[in-house]
Amino acid sequence: MKADLIAQLQGLEEEGTVAVQEAPPESLEGLRVELLGRKGRLTGILRHVVQLAPEDRPVVGAEANRVKQALSELLDARAAEAGPAEALGPLEDLTLPGRRRWRGGLHPVTQTVNEICDIFRDLGFSRVSGPEAETLDYNFTKLNIPLDHPAADMHDTFFLNEGVVLRTHTSPVQARTMERCAPPVRVVVPGMCYRRDAWDASHAPAFEQIEGLAVDEGISFVDFRATIDEFVRRFFGPATRTRFRPSYFPFTEPSAEVDVSCQICGGSGCSACKGTGWMEIMGAGMVHPKVFANVGYDPERYTGFAFGMGPARITMLRHRIPDIRLLYENDMRFLEQFA
Ligand code: DAH
Repeated sequence: MKADLIAQLQGLEEEGTVAVQEAPPESLEGLRVELLGRKGRLTGILRHVVQLAPEDRPVVGAEANRVKQALSELLDARAAEAGPAEALGPLEDLTLPGRRRWRGGLHPVTQTVNEICDIFRDLGFSRVSGPEAETLDYNFTKLNIPLDHPAADMHDTFFLNEGVVLRTHTSPVQARTMERCAPPVRVVVPGMCYRRDAWDASHAPAFEQIEGLAVDEGISFVDFRATIDEFVRRFFGPATRTRFRPSYFPFTEPSAEVDVSCQICGGSGCSACKGTGWMEIMGAGMVHPKVFANVGYDPERYTGFAFGMGPARITMLRHRIPDIRLLYENDMRFLEQFA
């Protein structure tokens, strides 16, 4: 019995060796299954091991392992020779379902930025940009923020070189635009800004802003309000109300913060608006005469308004996103909801 099994194993080795050597590459996998698979010929022989005397079993087992190893190495060697594609056997399986291609999409904040800029384009504003590495002069001084003034501390600034910072807001592009263009001017400026804020649910150290600026002869507070009201109705919907609250910015006088009626409760008060019925969407105001003087515009002749808003915050209000970090972690499970 023992000798018989050993002879069968050796027979399998010889036959198998010839078969593997002669097989075309595409039938190698089939041959592996036939010889060494769970229901293959080697397993068939080993089924009889249980009938052996206990002391004979290890001998036959060792021979079986040797044969298996030899054939397996030979199969690997032939498969490697044939190259990876053929080693896998025929590649076309017409019953496989089609593969879904991965489709990219715009980030939810980019979608908000584009929608806001498109609305202002319809109102006559061009879209421009400015540098993210900015001088202290443009980031603060030209905007009527003296460097030793507490307003400069409002921005926790990243310094790059002597006198050069990562801009803390998009407002410096107001000054750059006015120095470059004679009035009338109407621009919106989307871009990244940087502040040394720690990450938390409502702060990111790098974030988007959209600046707006309109300057001409005879622009009044009424034009300012009408423009912002029109933007709010188009962006948030015709039923949305707008409220201007007095505020302070060094580069505008008067200054305001603009609130819209809460997008969640419609104004009756809920947890999202902390019971006030309002949500803040931007800082704004009439351009300060000193800013005009700093960029070479005649403050006696020209007036204008400016505003600055955070599209990440607006995206959060709009989609009820509870934590700003979700917008910057690039988790596909989150982002795919906005594709
Ligand atoms: N630059 C301000 C900030 O970063 C936002 C701002 C407020 C911009 C009022 C303006 C404005 O143009 O008029 O907080």
